[in-house]
Amino acid sequence: MKKFIYAYILFALLLTVNAAPFQLNKRAITFVTCDDTFPSTVLNVKIGSDHPESKKNESFEVSGKLTYEPIVKDITVLRIEYSANGNTLGDIYDQVFSYSVEPRTPFNISASDVPTPELPDSYMLYVYVGEYDRMEGFFYESACALATVSGSS
Ligand SMILES: *[C@@H]1O[C@H](CO)[C@@H](O)[C@H](O)[C@H]1NC(C)=O
Ligand SMILES: *[C@@H]1O[C@H](CO)[C@@H](O)[C@H](O)[C@H]1NC(C)=O
Repeated sequence: MKKFIYAYILFALLLTVNAAPFQLNKRAITFVTCDDTFPSTVLNVKIGSDHPESKKNESFEVSGKLTYEPIVKDITVLRIEYSANGNTLGDIYDQVFSYSVEPRTPFNISASDVPTPELPDSYMLYVYVGEYDRMEGFFYESACALATVSGSS
């Protein structure tokens, strides 16, 4: 009987130890593609501090490869947008590319001072590469990555 209890305690300990890293993973922000129309388009996003903090600046490292569109110097934009319940939070952040890149060619861009809006517990973080058409007043996206964050505070 005693042996059985020890085995049980050991088993419970193992479960606890295994659960710890899993909880850390749950809190990490992971980006996934938000548009599977262009499966060969890649957009990788890394953010500075794991969870952006309200009213502070966050840094973003974005790299990837566009399938069809080139990146055009001074025209193509890296766009970062926080949203909750379908509404944009704060201001949309746009940063123009300072160099051109052919389609299917790896690119990278970093934005070191992206203002974080006042964040609710749960929100979405969108990262786009695209182009703003002033005539149409419309943003054409070439690539999009999305992170869903919940229980951030
Ligand atoms: C980022 O892109 C530039 C321009 O294409 C390139 O010269 C540089 O090596 C790239 N850096 C990284 C870390 O990929
Ligand atoms: C945050 O970023 C904005 C522009 O993106 C900049 O004007 C401001 O100085 C930055 N604040 C800090 C504390 O770095």
